[in-house]
Amino acid sequence: MKTQKLDRIALAFALVLAGCGGAEDTPSGGTPAPSAIAPSPGPSPAPGPAPSPAPTPAPAPAPAPTPSPAPAPSPEVQRGAMLYLQCAGCHGEDPGIGTRGIYKGTMASVLVAAYRRVSTMNVYLNTLSSTDNEDLAAYIRNRVGP
Ligand code: HEC
Repeated sequence: MKTQKLDRIALAFALVLAGCGGAEDTPSGGTPAPSAIAPSPGPSPAPGPAPSPAPTPAPAPAPAPTPSPAPAPSPEVQRGAMLYLQCAGCHGEDPGIGTRGIYKGTMASVLVAAYRRVSTMNVYLNTLSSTDNEDLAAYIRNRVGP
């Protein structure tokens, strides 16, 4: 019983070996395997059609207006803030809560009139341009508020 089973296994094994061996036992003088053929350089690809002009990109959507609940101070206001530094010594750092009637200076004409009236401010009639005063007034308006 046992030996019979072993014999079958051996037979099967032998068959497998024979199968494998048979493949290897092909006559050596035969034609080389197809894989040995050197790949010949393929024909250069025919020039393709001329590249068509790139499609025009779709127009970009217009940028949505940025909601600005607190708009950044305009360049005039920012410039006026710098100019106001020379006023802060007498009128306080913030013209919105400043002293000596600075809150009135929301228009360039008011500023110039004040420069004329107050001797200590006469110098600004010469040192500040009309643009300077416009920017100062813009800044003071911005600080004083509506
Ligand atoms: C050396 C001190 C001094 C400086 C610096 C000065 N001021 Fe004056 N300013 C005064 C005095 C004093 C008054 C008069 C206050 C009053 O009449 O009660 C005055 C009044 C004013 C007034 C109010 C005018 C009105 O009708 O009541 C404005 C506006 C003003 N200043 C703007 C400015 C600005 C802008 C600057 C800077 C460019 C400036 N001041 C710099 C001293 C100064």
